[in-house]
Amino acid sequence: MYIGADYYPEHWPRERWETDARMMQEAGFNIVRLAEFAWINMEPQEGTFEFGWLDEALETLDRHGIRAVLCTPTAVMPAWIARKYPETLAMQQDGTRIVWGVRKNNCFTSGAYRLLSERITRAMAEHFRDAPNVIGWQTDNEFGGPVCYCDTCRSAFQDWLRAKYGSLDELNRAWGTHFWGHLYRTWGEIIIPVDPSTHNPSACLDWQRFGSWLNVRFQRDQVRILREVCPQHFVTHNFMGLFHELDYYDLAEDLDHVSWDNYPVWGPPSVPYLASEAADVMRGLKKKNFWIMEQTSGPGGWGAYGRNPRPGEIRKVAFQQVAHGADAVVWFRWRACTAGREQYWHGILGHDGKGLRRYKECAQTATDLHGLSAALEGTTVKPSVAIIYDYDSIWAVRIQPGYAGNTYHAAMDRLYQALFRAGVNVDFIRSTDDLSPYRVVLAPDLYVLPDRVAESLRQYVQNGGVLLADSRFGVKDETNLCHARTLPGLLSDALGIAIEEYESLGQGDETQSITYKVLGLGALSGSYTAAQTAEWVQPQTAETLARYGEWHMQPYAALTRNRYGQGWGYFLGTVIQEPGFYDALIAELLERAGIAAVVKPPAGVEASIREGNGRRLLFLINHTEQPQTVTVPAGQMELLTQTETGHTLTLDRYGVAVVQLA
Ligand code: GLA
Ligand code: ZN
Repeated sequence: MYIGADYYPEHWPRERWETDARMMQEAGFNIVRLAEFAWINMEPQEGTFEFGWLDEALETLDRHGIRAVLCTPTAVMPAWIARKYPETLAMQQDGTRIVWGVRKNNCFTSGAYRLLSERITRAMAEHFRDAPNVIGWQTDNEFGGPVCYCDTCRSAFQDWLRAKYGSLDELNRAWGTHFWGHLYRTWGEIIIPVDPSTHNPSACLDWQRFGSWLNVRFQRDQVRILREVCPQHFVTHNFMGLFHELDYYDLAEDLDHVSWDNYPVWGPPSVPYLASEAADVMRGLKKKNFWIMEQTSGPGGWGAYGRNPRPGEIRKVAFQQVAHGADAVVWFRWRACTAGREQYWHGILGHDGKGLRRYKECAQTATDLHGLSAALEGTTVKPSVAIIYDYDSIWAVRIQPGYAGNTYHAAMDRLYQALFRAGVNVDFIRSTDDLSPYRVVLAPDLYVLPDRVAESLRQYVQNGGVLLADSRFGVKDETNLCHARTLPGLLSDALGIAIEEYESLGQGDETQSITYKVLGLGALSGSYTAAQTAEWVQPQTAETLARYGEWHMQPYAALTRNRYGQGWGYFLGTVIQEPGFYDALIAELLERAGIAAVVKPPAGVEASIREGNGRRLLFLINHTEQPQTVTVPAGQMELLTQTETGHTLTLDRYGVAVVQLA
């Protein structure tokens, strides 16, 4: 197991390096990440390389048993690049170039920038390939921007479209340019759809895909070099969890494993649903365990700083990630820098460089995790429930939400959080993945539904799967045109419903918004509130599990269940305001699929299981500031305390436990 920190030796005098390395070793650290913003230190002028300082830092770390991940430094271009090659700076929508001086300033189609990126990557790879403690590479830093509107990007977009569609006739069909007379007669006429709320939605979706591909291509150019020169090293990138400007599946494809940057300590302490959800999304990108490459270790901020992690919080945040598949924890940053925009982004050490409370907690966490590493070997999270996570739908919903207030992540969160509360693990998968390993598949806001995906979902239900779809399911085809079929289209039989009409109930402004009463039946009995959207769902073969209270909604169902083949198709046509509804719905789906949680965690306690190599490890994490008692299987070994469990186990505030299940 790798535990360590993001370290910036270039920020500190050389005399300090030895102290840093010794303190890291004493804390049980064995990894640092280095140099992601140090291009200028390594190539002070074009083609002149200076790696001596980094050699020395690596040697100092090596003497203390600390290994390193090196980064290609392309997230910040040196000032000389901006001066010498002004076209490397991204162009903004108003036609002016971005002002150099922050980060991520470059245009991704600039030939100069691509060549400069390849050159520094090759120089670093050749120089460090035999450094004894270098084990891998991080490409760039947090890919995700900027979007560039320069002429080169526009012609590259046209070329990309030509390669994708082959002919203008096909592009015109795919984009539906017969509307408003927007037909293109030459490739050169194609504009950048700068405004996703007014330009052609199909063009907007392709522009988003193109921007994602530019980042993937840029990374691929670096990965090709790293693989050629340093075949013994791994290559990763630090992703940003639920960030969704890029298709992260594509970005992950060229890497050995995914890493991600986790900053969950903001605002009042609360259950960090999003951090566990992001971890599951990250694990899903390559269907394997991941690294934490940056993680909160102090109050952060670029101007004003935020909340300080409370005693125990740094440790439980790390355990949450390990529970979801992290095989390494790297904290951001080793020591708060006294200069620059991130002076207030605090690290393990403060400005004074002393090993204080946060340092001690990181050291404790490192000791605990090293103690677990043999048990964790070969384990990962293996859920029977999957959520389809689809970037096309995320983007298409953003371009045209349909009902007011619709966001993909809100739809997904409602279901995810209920699963979290039920103590059940979940995988995030592509819409095109094999669904057969899962007993339950949830498809929140699966707005873009190519026919082949619809067919795979239909077969999944027919063969015994339990599927849940919801409002705006399957409305669009893959080029963001509406399907010309009665909804839910190819899933009509599997879901046993027809949707001929639908409406938005509004959102936000109370004078303009309406809600409907919903009455749950059977296992969902209770009275709930429908908001935001109502698909006027007509049950055909489906039974109604929740109906509306209003007179005009009597023919329509809010929630349906349909027996189809060996499986069950559920459809929820609205957004329910009460979270308890989703708890009841998830309970119904799990029961239908024969899935029982190992423990039913009390509110604020998280349960997650890693398994493999003949072991099953149940992680319990108390996200509250009161002790919590969990009913657990008795007579099992709790690995952190090496004690046998009774029928219950009590976790301190922010306490964690790892129970090896027999
Ligand atoms: C990101 C970056 C880091 C740092 C932190 C805090 O995660 O990768 O370099 O800037 O945010 O701002
Ligand atoms: Zn550009």
